[in-house]
Amino acid sequence: MSKRIDINNLNVYYGSFLAVEDVSLAIEPKSVTAFIGPSGCGKSTFIRTLNRMHEVIPGARVEGEVLMDGVDLYGSDVDPVTVRRHVGMVFQRPNPFPTMSISENVLAGVKLNNKRISRSDADDLVESSLRGANLWAEVKDRLDKPGSSLSGGQQQRLCIARAIAIKPDVLLMDEPCSALDPISTLAIEDLIQDLKEQYTIVIVTHNMQQAARVSDRTAFFNIAGTGKPGKLIEMNDTPTMFSTPVEKATEDYISGRFG
Ligand SMILES: Nc1ncnc2c1ncn2[C@@H]1O[C@H](COP(=O)(O)OP(=O)(O)O)[C@@H](O)[C@H]1O
Ligand SMILES: [Mg+2]
Repeated sequence: MSKRIDINNLNVYYGSFLAVEDVSLAIEPKSVTAFIGPSGCGKSTFIRTLNRMHEVIPGARVEGEVLMDGVDLYGSDVDPVTVRRHVGMVFQRPNPFPTMSISENVLAGVKLNNKRISRSDADDLVESSLRGANLWAEVKDRLDKPGSSLSGGQQQRLCIARAIAIKPDVLLMDEPCSALDPISTLAIEDLIQDLKEQYTIVIVTHNMQQAARVSDRTAFFNIAGTGKPGKLIEMNDTPTMFSTPVEKATEDYISGRFG
């Protein structure tokens, strides 16, 4: 559970539209990497290439390499389903399956992967995943209630429990707090700090304070104008990015001068 990701010269397309151009960067294991940048610069597009979710959109494709411990996730013999088992994802809006109970939600990803598990193993996995997502104490007496009966912040932690139940190496989070209130946001940020001891975490956030609080390294993406591709402008350890960025565009963005 400590895989390093190296992205080399990645171009990301929707049909003929080049949405993200020539990105090369490395993601260190067991740390938090934040992607920041103005709306439309391709943060969501780029993060979805890291677990081969991008290509589920008709016409969407990539060029370049995404190496995980040296193995190209886009290699011809690599099964995208296997990739998604190693690289879990949490989305902007908490999206528990509304008709499923809390415990069924936790197990949903495991069942999708066609794993048969005994009742007691399932119970153990539900508990350990909910503990891992810092939700166990709040839901342990109502595991059979619908996932949709939880608050927004609890639903997002349920989605994190669902993601970690498949025991991924990497967790991708695309603006996981943008639909949450400030208290729930802090709960998720605390959780991210706990999770990075075990997982490699990549988070997209439009909230610069959040990037500064939770991440070890920050990558700034920008776009030159509508219809132009997003590009990686600069990446560094987070304190350096926020105190002494090299590029003027980074400084302008983090000081709130645009975007
Ligand atoms: N499903 C899609 N089909 C075509 N273009 C898309 C699709 N999703 C996003 N885009 C385009 O890709 C670019 C980057 O979008 P996105 O990755 O959502 O940016 P961000 O997450 O940084 O706001 C935008 O120009 C957007 O319109
Ligand atoms: Mg986005």
